Formats: sequence, structure tokens, C-alpha cells
Amino acid sequence: MSAMRHLLDLCKRRGFLFQSAEIHGGLRGAYDYGPLGVELKRNVSQEWWNSMVYQRSDVVGIDTAIITPPAVLKTSGHVDQFTDEMVDSRLSKERFRPDKAPALKLVDQDKVLPISAPDKVTAKVWEQDIRTQFAKGALITRKGKEILLQVERMEKDKIVLKRDNTSTTSEPTDLHIPYHGYVDPNSNSPFLTTSTRQLVDKTLHPSLTYLRPETAQGVFINYATVQRSHPHLKIPFGIAQIGKSFRNEIRLEHAIFRTPEFEQMELEFFVAPWQAEEQFESWRKFRMDWWKYYGRNHDRIRERPHAQDELAHYSSGCVDVEYLFPWGWGEVEGIANRGDFDLSKHSEATGIKLQYTDAILMQERQVREKATGVKETSVEVLAKERFTPHVVESSCGLNRAMLALMLDAMEVVDEQGKAIPFPGEGDNNNDANDTSIVSKGVRTIMKLHPRLAPVKVGIMPLISNNKDLVELCTGISQSLRQELQVNVSLETQSTTIGKRYYRMDEIGTPWCVTVDFESLQDRMVTIRERDTGEQRRVSAEEVVEIVRDGLRLHPRGSSSTSNQQ
Ligand code: GAP
Repeated sequence: MSAMRHLLDLCKRRGFLFQSAEIHGGLRGAYDYGPLGVELKRNVSQEWWNSMVYQRSDVVGIDTAIITPPAVLKTSGHVDQFTDEMVDSRLSKERFRPDKAPALKLVDQDKVLPISAPDKVTAKVWEQDIRTQFAKGALITRKGKEILLQVERMEKDKIVLKRDNTSTTSEPTDLHIPYHGYVDPNSNSPFLTTSTRQLVDKTLHPSLTYLRPETAQGVFINYATVQRSHPHLKIPFGIAQIGKSFRNEIRLEHAIFRTPEFEQMELEFFVAPWQAEEQFESWRKFRMDWWKYYGRNHDRIRERPHAQDELAHYSSGCVDVEYLFPWGWGEVEGIANRGDFDLSKHSEATGIKLQYTDAILMQERQVREKATGVKETSVEVLAKERFTPHVVESSCGLNRAMLALMLDAMEVVDEQGKAIPFPGEGDNNNDANDTSIVSKGVRTIMKLHPRLAPVKVGIMPLISNNKDLVELCTGISQSLRQELQVNVSLETQSTTIGKRYYRMDEIGTPWCVTVDFESLQDRMVTIRERDTGEQRRVSAEEVVEIVRDGLRLHPRGSSSTSNQQ
């Protein structure tokens, strides 16, 4: 079984992640986060926010509207650059790009239009759909998995089909099929939906709004209002935002890796043009340190600089942070030097000046010019000079980050606690039939960083139906909840303590506390650590301090800070 399959099974079984609307057959690409998933997702975003906003004095947060007027996305270039034209085949329901699709193929001296179904059963269904919905009264035959439509003639933007004079249909027939120069690449079917671009162009109206494709534009259009309302924010400074974004993705893949609805954690850092390069390098390092702090397997995280022809229209430099997923390296975050593209474009479109200057910054520039031997700009010129800020961006997908961090934390061990690798790990050979990984005695430990763990402490009475034991457990869990505001789980199922420990390991709970009959006498309990399995007796009161200490945020770079095992 592949690591991904194993993780998705666990996610469903333990309540991290569910296919959305499953009881109605499910909706492809849509996922619901269960009680543990929502905790993990909140923790990942909280750790991001903490490092980007609370731990710094030069970044503030914002939360902007998801619905966005077309003017914003026209200005940003999204409408022209990113609206991939897409068309759905009305027979197969497959989606494809018309600019890459082939032209119509006719046979028998251009008199027959063959449509190929994947198999005979589907061909029968499609034939029925054509007869009853798409070309009522047309002359149609079927040969195995091919449906053959007789063609009367081709017109400039139409295929005119031959009428079946024996047809008894009394409904009005229209045998003029619109044709725009392409057909479904898999079947040669001309029965297609209108292209998304044509639909957008036709329906685009000032009162219509978009769902935003990135949170970044909300930041750019608020740059001036944030700066004015927080005059202490001097360049360089940043605005951070976490929120939902939406994209009309052609390919939906690997569960929450690529979905039409997802969440982003984005920072737009506004800098003077001469600071951009240095800030870009500094943010690259800062973000890689973040990933290494919360990840265990540092060899599965890397930076990949973009080649010149890969850069987005706004970007003058970009590196992707990539994680080694079970199917190969995949982007989890992009760090880009966006230049002054965004603020210049919004300024041009609105006529509102989005420029900046301040005396200290200009002095800094003079010192820099002196140090680098560049011809110094005079004090008089500097005093008048204003510039459009450049932007260094860090843009991370929250759902992707969560997926990467779960895969990174997941370890399958045998009865002796020895890690077992997944078959095909590191290559694309995900053998779904290989069940060796789920054989007897094999179990999963989710070695999440304690600050990310959805449940921080599992508290369990030795005997689940003993009132006194349960009461002491409730008391300890109340202290943890009140003093540390953390998620605690009271594990009162009537299974063995060992089984309850393993259930907690599987969801990544860093500590378990067991209350036994001796505890009732001396208020001493057993605390067990997830990664080592080590157990010790401590007083019930000490538990809060142990957990508090374990959740402490250590300074980055110190050897004890990393989650690497
Ligand atoms: N503001 C820049 C921007 O949006 P991007 O590379 O298009 O850049 C940034 O997206 C991050 O958002 C990606 O690295 C990825 O983690 C996440 N992301 C993008 N599209 C996604 C999708 N369809 N599903 C899940 N995450 C996605």
C-alpha cells in the first residue's frame, strides 16, 4: 500500500479528512476536515501566523474579502493571463483545453462523423444521449464502440447532420451542431459546452464578482490604507493574510494537494527597490528554516529556483519550496520577487499614487551607496524622491502544507518499533496491492511536532468505568484546558491501555497520562512520550508543567528546536 493511500485511510478512519458530500456520492476535489483535521489545520496556520506576525515587529495581519470585483483581477493580470480556456465534453464529461484539442475528423469522403466511446456499454449510453438530447432526429448508427453520425454538409462554424427520415420523434429537431475548430480529443465528439472564456466574456458585467484566486490581491489593494492607519510601519514592512482561494483547476490530484477551493498563507513584504534582492534572499532562508523546524526529514524538503521561462508575468525571481511527496517532488510554497508590478498596476488603473519615502530609508540608501562605491545621490534629490514599493512574497498552501507535514510525520513501525519503509517510496511505483505494510503488529506513529499535534494530551483511567479514576482524569484534563488552552482527549474506551496508547500515537498525540489506583492514594500518574515510548511517574500537578515545557517555542536554529529525530 502506498504511503498516500495509507495516510488517506488513516485520515478517514480517525477523522482528519473526509470526501465532501460523501452521502450524496461525493464531490470530486472537495474535502471536509473532521475534528482532528480542523485542529491540525488550525495549528499549522497558527504556527505560520505566529512566526510571520507575532514574532516580528515589521509584519501586520489583514483579512480581506473573498469576493473580488473584476477590476482588481483585470488589473492584476489574472483575467488575461490565468483564465485558461476550458471546455467539457457533454458525452464523457471530461474537461480539456480547446487550444490543445484536435480538429474534427470525418471519414467516408467526409460524410461520416465517427465518435469513439471507451467501450461498447458506454457507446450505447452515448448513442442514447445523442438521440435524446444533443441531436434529436439525426441519422445515427453504432458499430461496436463507435457511434457514426451521417453528415449533410460542413458550414463555416457548424456541422449540419443528416436527418433520419424514419425517426418518429415529434420533438423539434436542430441538426446544426456548433463547431469552433476542435472536438473532444479522446472521442472526436463535437458535443461540447461553451468555453469558459466565452462564458466569462459574455457574462462579465460590473455587478459580477470573482472568487479570488490568491489572497495577495486583497493585500495590494489595501497597501495604502494599512500604511496610513499604522504610521509606525516603515518600509520594509509586510502584510500577512490567511484565507481561502479558488481556482478553476483542470487537473485535480492527490487529494488535498490540488483542489479548486484551498487556503493560502501569504505574506507581501514591501521593500525599497534597492532592498528587494537582499530581502528575497532573507525570506528564502527564513521560510526554509520554518519548514525545517516543523518537518522531521530534512532531505525531503528543498528549494528549486524557477527557470526564466517559468516565471509568472509579475515575477523577476522565484524559488519554490518543494516537498518529496510519495509521487515525487511537489511545490508547497513559492517565494517571489514581484518587483513593483502589483502596486504600479493598481496605481495606473485607479489613478491613486501608491508611492513612498521616508528620511531614515533615504539615509540608509546613502550609506549603502557610499559602501558600494555607487555614485551617491545628493541629499536634495533624495529628499524629494519617492518610489513605488517592490514586493517580496511568500505564498504557502495551507492544505498542501498540512499534507506534506502529515506525510513527513507518518512512520509505520513493526512490533519492535522499527520503522518500515513503504513499497515504492521515493519513486512513482505506488503498488496499491501490496499489503505488507498493514500486516499484524504493524502500527502507525504520527510524529508531528507537538505544536502541530491535533490532540496534545490523551488522558486515560486504567479502568474506564471507575468513577474515582475518571474523576481524577477529568481534573487533570480541566487543568490542562484552563492553563494551557490546549486540546485534550479523555480516553475512556474499555480497551487496554496499550491499545489506547497506540490509538493516540496514530493521531500524533505527544503525551499520554494514565491514572491508576495508586494515583488515587498519592496523586502520582504515568506520563508517556509518543516518540520514545518512555514512561515515568510524576505528580498530577506536574503534568501541566511538562506539557507547557514541551510546547515551548524554542529559538530557531538551536539544536534542540528541530523536530528531526
Ligand atoms: N500569490 C502567489 C500565488 O498564489 P501560486 O504558486 O499560484 O502563487 C501559492 O500559489 C501556493 O498555493 C502553492 O505553492 C500551493 O502550495 C498553493 N496552491 C496553489 N494552487 C493550489 C490548489 N489548486 N490546491 C491547493 N493548493 C494550491
